[in-house]
Amino acid sequence: MKIAIVIGTRPEIIKMAPVIDEINKRNLDYVLIHTGQHYDHEMSDQFFLDLELPTPDYNIGVGSGSHGEQTAEMMKGIEKVFVKEKPDLVMVQGDTNAVLAGAIVASKLHIPVGHVEAGLRSFDKTMPEEINRMAADVCSLLYYVPTEESALNLVVEGINPKNVIITGNTVVDACLRNLKIAENKSDILSQFSEYENILTLTMHRAENVDNIERLTQITDALMELNELTIIFPVHPRTLKNLEKFGIYSKMIEKGHIKIIKPVGYLDFLLLLSHSQMIMTDSGGLQEEAITLDVPCMTLRYNTERPETVTAGGNILVGSDKKKIMETTRLIMNDPQTREKMKKAINPYGDGKSSERILEVSLREYENGNMEIKAPEDLMNQFKRKIELVDSNITVLEFEKINNALIRLVYDNGEARFPHEDLDLKNMLVLFDKYLN
Ligand code: UD1
Ligand code: UDP
Repeated sequence: MKIAIVIGTRPEIIKMAPVIDEINKRNLDYVLIHTGQHYDHEMSDQFFLDLELPTPDYNIGVGSGSHGEQTAEMMKGIEKVFVKEKPDLVMVQGDTNAVLAGAIVASKLHIPVGHVEAGLRSFDKTMPEEINRMAADVCSLLYYVPTEESALNLVVEGINPKNVIITGNTVVDACLRNLKIAENKSDILSQFSEYENILTLTMHRAENVDNIERLTQITDALMELNELTIIFPVHPRTLKNLEKFGIYSKMIEKGHIKIIKPVGYLDFLLLLSHSQMIMTDSGGLQEEAITLDVPCMTLRYNTERPETVTAGGNILVGSDKKKIMETTRLIMNDPQTREKMKKAINPYGDGKSSERILEVSLREYENGNMEIKAPEDLMNQFKRKIELVDSNITVLEFEKINNALIRLVYDNGEARFPHEDLDLKNMLVLFDKYLN
């Protein structure tokens, strides 16, 4: 099996690194395609060094631009590579423009797409990432989802549950493997050894940093929180806007805010693990914080990682100055809140997600389930049905006996993912009944 991996930005490099390691372990054939969306050394090359990744076979070199420009250039470049390399499976990760471009191009060429971190939903269609992940999920064949909740998002949208595999998130693999390495190799903490009460901050979401009102609310709060030391590795998008809106110099004058260049993964993991809390609008950081037992406060009104909030490790505050200050002080100063947040159970798995992703992909390939071809059955050969089950019968048994595919299950009014060994007694079952 030959796999093509498409990556384009910092988080994709980090979260696909464990998958690439697994592919290498199994000596599989693969091509690595970088779209070039992130191109600064500290946003791209540094991660190839830190994670010991091979140089990409192709770099499309799209650089920065509007969504339309960027995605179109990526699609043109990616299509050429797929036509030449003829992969059996294309893997994309997350919700960036690379995911959109890779998934659309592959599906039009009838190449199966495996979407790593599929099924996340913020239910906010103003976010470019929400459109990207929804469109990529329409184009995918295999869905490697991090949690049961993300699996449910997909089946509710009509995705076949047989193609949805709950693997955990590869960020846990990356985080756990590299923290040990970071402890030996990184000396980032020596720069900050004189400070106590370190809060690490990252932000780059368009809805926060491109919007002067929101950015002002957030940065005003940061400037007033002068009892803390705030370490702020600044994303290039954010830096440009802080300068454009005249906020950068005001922040620098406040000695407690240390604005530094984006740091490599090893440095960042060590910094994060030694922080009292993290303030962020990043997706990956909400996951890493709960993995490393660091309380997280998220500068957003919604999240596609709601599991972190329900688990108790993450608090959403939006961009409201008062709320940001109050919640920061609560987390920093109230031992009960801190302990509760630190003890939140990590919903993203055990660090073996990439192993599972490879196992399932190989199995599906070897079983011949990855061929994309037009259906041969005549149309309308099934009926969509609902039934209350009154006996002990598993999903698999029900499907066999009834010649059916279970789409979704309701247990006591709550939606459940139809795991094959789930006992359906007293549950409502939504299914397709085949008529031939
Ligand atoms: C992109 C992703 C976002 C992801 C983030 C990770 C999309 C739609 N957005 O957002 O989902 O969370 O990456 O960090 O795919 N720039 C540089 N150097 C670089 C890269 C960017 O200076 O190496 C500057 C440019 O001015 C550019 C701006 O940052 O216009 C934004 O970059 P872009 O890649 O368009 O989006 P991100 O905000 O990085
Ligand atoms: N990260 C890093 N250095 C930094 C800031 C972030 O290595 O200076 C890592 C972080 O550990 C996480 C990833 O970058 O794994 C998150 O990327 P980002 O916030 O840019 O994107 P998102 O996750 O929001 O898509």
